[in-house]
Amino acid sequence: MSRFVSYSPPRIATDVAMQRGQEFLAHMDSRRSVRMFSGDDVPREMIEIAVATANTAPSGAHQQPWTFVATNDQVVRHSIRVAAEIEETENYEGGRLPPAWRAALEPLGTDSDKSYLEVVPWIVVVFAQKSTPMPDGSLRKNYYVNESVGIACGLFIASLHTMGLATLTHTPNPMGFLNEILDRPSTERPYILFPIGYPAADCTVPDLTRKPLADALLEVPSPS
Ligand SMILES: Cc1cc2nc3c(=O)[nH]c(=O)nc-3n(C[C@H](O)[C@H](O)[C@H](O)COP(=O)(O)O)c2cc1C
Repeated sequence: MSRFVSYSPPRIATDVAMQRGQEFLAHMDSRRSVRMFSGDDVPREMIEIAVATANTAPSGAHQQPWTFVATNDQVVRHSIRVAAEIEETENYEGGRLPPAWRAALEPLGTDSDKSYLEVVPWIVVVFAQKSTPMPDGSLRKNYYVNESVGIACGLFIASLHTMGLATLTHTPNPMGFLNEILDRPSTERPYILFPIGYPAADCTVPDLTRKPLADALLEVPSPS
């Protein structure tokens, strides 16, 4: 039985709305993925705020099929670094990455060194729940898991950036080692590993440009 509650956010004047939108765009456009971190502390509350923000994401049938696992434990971060470097060494030096993929990564200058995983104060690993155990012991299959968890991760990244924190969308595939280290069940799939901290004082990032809006946005029918 559905229950409905009133939803009537105030209508914002168009000029104010566009001003806000432009400011948010400029803010998000200043976000970069960081691979050079400082070891400065980040309060746990900031991680909680970012996860709470991610937790507002829309999800298929409101199934909210995500688990965020946070750690600032040195031993756990070390284990994650070691395991990630084993996989990435196989990817980069062992020939597991197909040549086209290697070529795509070349401008980023990435390699199998993941020492930043021990520099950052926090690691948050997002798990996608393929199915979710229910209180009655049954297992509920989830729908649109990838889409839902991807949106939640986007909000998570935006929240971190809003708080002046830096992160990297990291996928040291295959990531099954994260189930083991972080003790997550086989119904959950490691989705993205986020190292979180402040950028190092001498941090640099690849000189990238974003594709023009004209390539990202098409209108049908095309405006004359
Ligand atoms: C799904 C996904 C997986 C990624 N995996 C990695 C990764 O494993 N290692 C890495 O260094 N960067 C990874 N990245 C970061 C991208 O390289 C980065 O977002 C891209 O180069 C654009 O740079 P920007 O985030 O600074 O705008 C990943 C990004 C996404 C969205």
